[in-house]
Amino acid sequence: MAVNSNQPRDSFGSKFGIIAAAAGSAVGLGNIWKFPYEAGVNGGGAFLFIYLIFVLLIGVSVMVAELTIGRAGQRNAIGSFKALAPGKPWFLVGMMGIAAAFMIFAFYGAVAGWTLEYIYQSIRNGFAGKSPEDLSQMFTEFTTNPARPIMWQTLFLIMTAGVVIAGVQKGIEKYSKILMPLLLLIILVLIVRSVTLPGAREGINFLFKPDFSKVTGHTIISALGQAFFSLSLGMGTIITYGSYIKKKENLLNTAVQVSLADTLIAVLAGLAIFPAVFAFGINPSEGPGLVFITLPNIFQQMPGGYVFSLMFFILLGIAALTSTISLLEVIVAYFSEELKMSRKRATLLAASGILFLGILCSLSQGPIAGFKIFGLNIWDFLDFTSTKIILPLGGLFIVIFVGFVLGRKRVTEELNNEGTLKARLLPVVMFLIRFVAPIAIALVFLNMIGILKIT
Ligand code: PHE
Repeated sequence: MAVNSNQPRDSFGSKFGIIAAAAGSAVGLGNIWKFPYEAGVNGGGAFLFIYLIFVLLIGVSVMVAELTIGRAGQRNAIGSFKALAPGKPWFLVGMMGIAAAFMIFAFYGAVAGWTLEYIYQSIRNGFAGKSPEDLSQMFTEFTTNPARPIMWQTLFLIMTAGVVIAGVQKGIEKYSKILMPLLLLIILVLIVRSVTLPGAREGINFLFKPDFSKVTGHTIISALGQAFFSLSLGMGTIITYGSYIKKKENLLNTAVQVSLADTLIAVLAGLAIFPAVFAFGINPSEGPGLVFITLPNIFQQMPGGYVFSLMFFILLGIAALTSTISLLEVIVAYFSEELKMSRKRATLLAASGILFLGILCSLSQGPIAGFKIFGLNIWDFLDFTSTKIILPLGGLFIVIFVGFVLGRKRVTEELNNEGTLKARLLPVVMFLIRFVAPIAIALVFLNMIGILKIT
């Protein structure tokens, strides 16, 4: 569909569709792969506790700010800033977001591709009879292979593009409404399996009993970084989705519901994983290999493991897909609206750019591992620049923009729907957006890039 100013903008058709799409963006590898291993290395329940505080105080306010910009601006991540602050450099925040979408998709799409390989291995019973060392070797051989990960990654990108080309309501919303309930169902089945294993209790304790002796400055920084990444904040995803939300919907409620849903799924993923990890006497702080090495080892020992392994990797694939859809949409919305391309052309162009960067990411695990930028391989460089720099910096500018530039009157109107909603939380959220969030983000950011050293 070509952009035509006479045509109304595509939008989400229902409340459930909004939540499914936004929670679909938020719930992803960050929840099911990263949250459990971050919690695993950062003291379990203590990490969860700090993470919750960040989500409630900072995550929700940045999300409200992004939704406000998108719905008030009625355009993509760059266009919305241009519409709300014409002639000012604020649109550069959107520009950083588009760049981050390319970078994140590049490495995120690589891991998403791995889930397809692991679905395939689950189907052919490829983990059976393998020792932990064999499984670890299998993972390394696969990820360092010059061709196979690229094949899966390309397939994953094609699936994502297929949904995005179909449009906001007929593509993104439609698939999110099917995939998100399915994701919840699978995760619940996996939890039942995990918590009924003998010795599971210890895993539940690990996740919920806070051990604050493990908390360091690093835990705090990881928790905030994880909150941003997991809620898809700081790069215009939620601005873009916000622009598809109708004027009658309640943005404050939406932000709270999406944030809680995202946190709930992260906790549920922990509940599906840790009881099984403890039941099999495995160290919970395995790091990034937790899902691709530790879990296959558990599945092949567990009764019914064949089915649960397949379910788990399908779960991971679904979670990744609804997130890559949102990453691609950020770019496609920009290309189609600002550069006046058809949706199809915009999707193909964006996907080609992503594929190029994505192939470099995959190869950086093997053949071109020696190629370094600032001492980091391409994957780590893109990961670092996008998630550690652009997301917090973008989030900081976004809350400053909404807190101080957009004007209290405009923000209030957007959040109480021109006075038709009560919006009792509004004063609290405004305070968080103007003061608490910017200060907290700035402190953590400065500390992270090493200017302040609290850790
Ligand atoms: N929130 C997604 C996850 O947790 C990742 C993501 C980040 C998606 C930024 C879109 C934008 O996996």
